[in-house]
Amino acid sequence: MRAAICPAYGPPEVVRVEERPSPSVGPGEARVRVVAAAVNYPDVLLVANRYQISVPPPFVPGSEFAGVVEEIADDVTCLDAGARVTGTGLYGAFAEGVVVAASGLSSIPDGVDMPAAAAFGVAYRTAYHTLRSVARVQEGDQLVVLGAGGGVGLASVQLAAVLGVSVTAVASSDEKLGVATSYGARRVVNHRVSDLRTALRETLPQGADAVVDPVGGDLSEPTLRALRRGGRFITVGYASGTIPRIPLNLVLVKGVQIIGFQFQDVAPDEFRRNEAELKKLLTSGRVTPHIGATFGLDETARALRLVADGKAIGKVLIAM
Ligand SMILES: NC(=O)c1ccc[n+]([C@@H]2O[C@H](COP(=O)([O-])OP(=O)(O)OC[C@H]3O[C@@H](n4cnc5c(N)ncnc54)[C@H](OP(=O)(O)O)[C@@H]3O)[C@@H](O)[C@H]2O)c1
Repeated sequence: MRAAICPAYGPPEVVRVEERPSPSVGPGEARVRVVAAAVNYPDVLLVANRYQISVPPPFVPGSEFAGVVEEIADDVTCLDAGARVTGTGLYGAFAEGVVVAASGLSSIPDGVDMPAAAAFGVAYRTAYHTLRSVARVQEGDQLVVLGAGGGVGLASVQLAAVLGVSVTAVASSDEKLGVATSYGARRVVNHRVSDLRTALRETLPQGADAVVDPVGGDLSEPTLRALRRGGRFITVGYASGTIPRIPLNLVLVKGVQIIGFQFQDVAPDEFRRNEAELKKLLTSGRVTPHIGATFGLDETARALRLVADGKAIGKVLIAM
């Protein structure tokens, strides 16, 4: 099979495509023929050895895929060959085939195509669990979303709009903000042309109920300042490359909460509820993932570069 390989840590351009033997299936595992894989920011970090976990090279990057089950181990009873599935993992997805634990695969609902299924995983699930169980937004709330043109950011805009939340989208370009508006953002701030703190004060004079922040860096503090008393700031990631240091007196004086999002912190009953609601939004067509760019497997380095540079709009896919 053909696979994108990270032969040594470095920038996206180290990744090259090679012929590799198909991995064999062990107990509890299934082999999936990958049809589409989504690029996530951690894929870039893993290739650069800047992620929280290191994978020794050579390895196949890629953490999210949709495809067809080709082979299952004898002890697997939860799946059939030919099933359309999605899956996530730390690495391995930027290849024509991937072997994973069968229990980690989810079936793709009828009517949902492979690219949409691949694009809908990590970003939309992160956004929805964040909105429902951490930000706990309600209809009519005011929400600020940073990185609103990126994977998690645009998903947050789309899903919050569907929940009846009034979204202020913050991004670095009018093109990204235009897409966020087309998915329901009511107000926009281009942080490259406006001072963010001033712009948010003017845009939301009563303050925001919640903030979703997948970017960090210099954008976090001015956005935290835009919260109303009792508001919630959700820190999701640091795509800017800088983990912000927030003066704690702001938390005390403004009476706000700063909460981190991690999947494992969502209570099991809420997790199931959120997943069921999200599936319904996808299958009903109320939410369609925005796929900003699609590359071939040979162009994996270019796909990673687009994400590394923060230029992607919505999700970036690799189609096999
Ligand atoms: N906690 C979790 O479970 C969880 C789950 C998923 C993702 N994450 C994290 O969330 C973060 C965002 O993920 P994503 O998929 O939304 O990423 P993405 O699609 O690449 O978007 C990130 C956004 O960050 C902004 N940005 C600012 N400086 C940047 C830089 N130097 N390089 C790249 N982007 C930059 C860009 O927005 P502007 O140009 O508009 O400012 C970009 O659109 C990542 O750190 C990821 O690891 C965490």
